[in-house]
Amino acid sequence: MTDLRDDTRDLFRALTGAEPVGLWSAPGRVNLIGEHTDYNDGFVLPFAIDRRTLVAAGARDDGVIRVASALGDEVVEAPVAELGALVAEGGLQHHWAGYALGVAWALGEPVERGGAGLDLVAVPGLDLVIDSNVPIGAGLSSSAALECAVAVALTDLWRLDVDRPRLARVGRLAENEAVGAPTGIMDQSASLLGRRDAAVFLDCRSLDAEVVDLGFAAAGLTVLVIDTHVKHSHATGGYRERRASCEAGAAAMGVPSLRDLEVDDLPRARELLDDVTFRRVRHVVTENRRVLDTVRTLRLEGAAAIGPLLDASHVSMRDDFEISVPELDLAVETAQSNGAIGARMTGGGFGGAAIALVPEGELSRVKVAVDGAFAEHGFTAPTLFTVTPSEGATRET
Ligand code: GLA
Repeated sequence: MTDLRDDTRDLFRALTGAEPVGLWSAPGRVNLIGEHTDYNDGFVLPFAIDRRTLVAAGARDDGVIRVASALGDEVVEAPVAELGALVAEGGLQHHWAGYALGVAWALGEPVERGGAGLDLVAVPGLDLVIDSNVPIGAGLSSSAALECAVAVALTDLWRLDVDRPRLARVGRLAENEAVGAPTGIMDQSASLLGRRDAAVFLDCRSLDAEVVDLGFAAAGLTVLVIDTHVKHSHATGGYRERRASCEAGAAAMGVPSLRDLEVDDLPRARELLDDVTFRRVRHVVTENRRVLDTVRTLRLEGAAAIGPLLDASHVSMRDDFEISVPELDLAVETAQSNGAIGARMTGGGFGGAAIALVPEGELSRVKVAVDGAFAEHGFTAPTLFTVTPSEGATRET
């Protein structure tokens, strides 16, 4: 982190010739369990990880917001007062700078739409310089890390009084409308509300959040991330399609969202729905149940007892929701048969990463086995690293 802080500051100096007024950071996240439940008003249990995106910022006196990143050469700028027009004409769609400029725009949108109702004409311009060690495209929410780092920087610099649940909505609005990815509220909530050694148990309907102790270290457990390098994008294709199936399923069942169905409703769903929609619905309904069971198990028995719930979640995503890929299945199965107590793909799916909950003494065995299995199948070598549940977005200096 020290290096990343120095690098971000150096880049800020190189771009502006001045010192930044501050440095802010926000983490990526691992979703422990509760996949594709957030946009169905359901439950999720993510945690913030020790991989962060940093933003160095300083004021400008010309009303322009300018953003640069260590990850590319492009510098993007727009007058703050014209962000609305830029978003309306789709100028930030599917663009990395959209996650940063989109947050500035969303702060100015009305509260009822998920914004913060700020008068953007009144705020000063800014230089924002970004650096990150959250892997991109790995399903660890590099996008939310960027949105949330910018969101906490802007609320400080523009002296806004916006609480974190509202900031999470601002990040989601930026991602949905400025960038054009129809994602839910989980990632921003994890990045903003995360706590060391704990997960965020979020009810995505009420947005009530509770911190749930994980106690992985005390239980001698480690979370291993297996980044398959199979690239996914939530702005296109499968994610959007799954969301549409869930909405169709809820409408056919006569409920506002799939959150309103219980496991007991599934026999009726099987009668009413076509096979594919039924399986999409069954994933969401059973996944909500698994989140509640995981929270209860963590509280009553501890982390060592949650493995079977993680395994069952993966099977449901593979067979019912059909968002896994062969690389993710191989990662999960190899980890499970080489000492992990539970494993599942994490995030939106169609690529990205799997997680395995591994007793510390078994970590090398699992890593060697996963590397070997990928080589044997002729898959691109995965990147393996451990993560620890960490604090959410914060001002660094
Ligand atoms: C992506 C989205 C989240 C959530 C997950 C699936 O990470 O950004 O909102 O829908 O997929 O659980």
